[in-house]
Amino acid sequence: MKGIILAGGSGSRLSPSTLSVNKHLLAVFDKPMIYYPLSVLMLGGIKDILIICAPDDVSRFKGLLGNGESLGISITYEVQENPNGIPEALIIGEEFIGRDDVTLILGDNIFYGQGFTTLLRKAIQDHKHATVFGYRVKDPERFGVVEFDENKKVVSLEEKPNDPKSDFAVTGLYIYDHRAVDIAKRLSPSGRGELEITDLNKQYLAMDELDVQLLGRGFAWMDAGTHESLFEASEFVKNIQQRQGFKLACIEEIAYYLGNIDKQELREIGKFMSKTDYGQYLIDIANRKHIEQYWDEMDSHPMLEVSKYE
Ligand code: DAU
Repeated sequence: MKGIILAGGSGSRLSPSTLSVNKHLLAVFDKPMIYYPLSVLMLGGIKDILIICAPDDVSRFKGLLGNGESLGISITYEVQENPNGIPEALIIGEEFIGRDDVTLILGDNIFYGQGFTTLLRKAIQDHKHATVFGYRVKDPERFGVVEFDENKKVVSLEEKPNDPKSDFAVTGLYIYDHRAVDIAKRLSPSGRGELEITDLNKQYLAMDELDVQLLGRGFAWMDAGTHESLFEASEFVKNIQQRQGFKLACIEEIAYYLGNIDKQELREIGKFMSKTDYGQYLIDIANRKHIEQYWDEMDSHPMLEVSKYE
């Protein structure tokens, strides 16, 4: 399974903050936005990741994440010249995907909740053709919307409908087989001049090959694409972290937990940022005597599920 993070676009809804900074590098509370989708792919067990961004931003992302070695994963980069639509990520990533399956995640999507890692790993493992995730929202007209019949079978998908047929939004996390690349190539731009991911999902639906998994009320799913939603996401992260003392989307912690890096490497990264709570957090984890002791304390931590699952 390959992983793609789409982190291009103009970020125009976050102007002026995004006039000279890529949206996905803005902080969601204490870490860059891209850490959140990256942590999702890492927790899903994906080690080969492509980041797609605008030409000017490649060097900035490389400065932040490099080739992924410090996280025990591989990160490569491709350019999207213009924001021509989400499915273009699959076309740009054609060579990278090859004959593999691919998990595509939007760079401004944040997922959190107990059971998420298990659900994602199972979705990746059981996945056949196309799997997307539905989430109940108050404002479905802002998203791709999925409609079900009384037997919970998917009957329709619509992109930002004026009159939504359900309250279920399709989140920005998609698992596809390699055929998605060819399907993306055959799409035509919508009225707003973009290739639409909903049109691609509709093709899988028409072939009866679309699986929609629902994320229940215990999950949090947010996109941080506007000033308001970015602020709300930051508040959410701050509140959970301060209450529990665990960090969300701490990619170094995840790398350590997954066995991608060792205690010493984790400590070194922490020392580099030791003036921040983030750096101290990493050092504290590295200083624990036994990882088992750490697991005990993590009783409700989503990452614990990885060990239960494997
Ligand atoms: O967040 C989930 C929603 O994402 C889905 O429910 C919708 O079906 C899907 O179309 C999309 O809607 P948005 O209106 O939120 O898409 P937006 O244009 O804001 O782009 C989402 C992210 O993808 C954002 O981080 C920028 C990036 N992007 C987007 C486009 C269109 C790119 O990097 N390149 C692009 O060409």
